Amino acid sequence: MRLDKFICKSTEYSLVDALALIENRSVVVNGIIAIGASHQVHKNNVVTLDGEILTSRSSRYLLLNKPVNMICSNVDEKYPSVLNLLDVDRVTELHIAGRLDADTTGLVLITDDGHWSFNLTSPKNKCEKVYKVLLSRPISSDATKHFLEGILLQGESNLTLPAKLHIIDSYNVFLTLTEGRFHQVKRMFSSIGNRVKSLHRQQIGNLELDVDIGHWRSLTQAEVEELSVND
Ligand code: URA
Repeated sequence: MRLDKFICKSTEYSLVDALALIENRSVVVNGIIAIGASHQVHKNNVVTLDGEILTSRSSRYLLLNKPVNMICSNVDEKYPSVLNLLDVDRVTELHIAGRLDADTTGLVLITDDGHWSFNLTSPKNKCEKVYKVLLSRPISSDATKHFLEGILLQGESNLTLPAKLHIIDSYNVFLTLTEGRFHQVKRMFSSIGNRVKSLHRQQIGNLELDVDIGHWRSLTQAEVEELSVND
């Protein structure tokens, strides 16, 4: 982590304050006065500020059940950000790992650990996401085969990765994806002549949504580790 960020994560100072503290030669890393804000702080480094050892606050990992008409963004736009639902300190330090559309509900992960969210959402990771889909027309008999083989979405040059369709009844299905392209579920159903009426994310990896709509909880250490990818 960058030194200026480390100072913010272990004190109440802002990034601007942190920079000033470094420039004032008040910060020492492993016994040497730090001169650059971009200096990388590693796990076993000892950082002091005016002689006091700094200890970084631990990262936060939250699961939220997103309602409709809220957006997965750090700022309010046409709709308010889901971050408004969190009654926690330093909300501005958090970000959303894998966004949902404003009209999609369900499981959203929120963290201040950029490394964790980057790995989790990387297409290389192939983490399964399960969506419950309500369709406007009955599901066609060949949809399962099409989705498994991959679909060429409009404007794209690569087939979608194999996706599993589980049919509940003619209008209700579960779709499991291992990637997250822009509006992917809606575009996949559109490409087979159907339309998504409502969309809900129920599961990411082995993590199932277990809080009421609009509510959140912290992930357990075991859940964080299970969703962590070794890079
Ligand atoms: N696919 C979509 O089309 N929308 C979402 O919100 C998530 C996946």
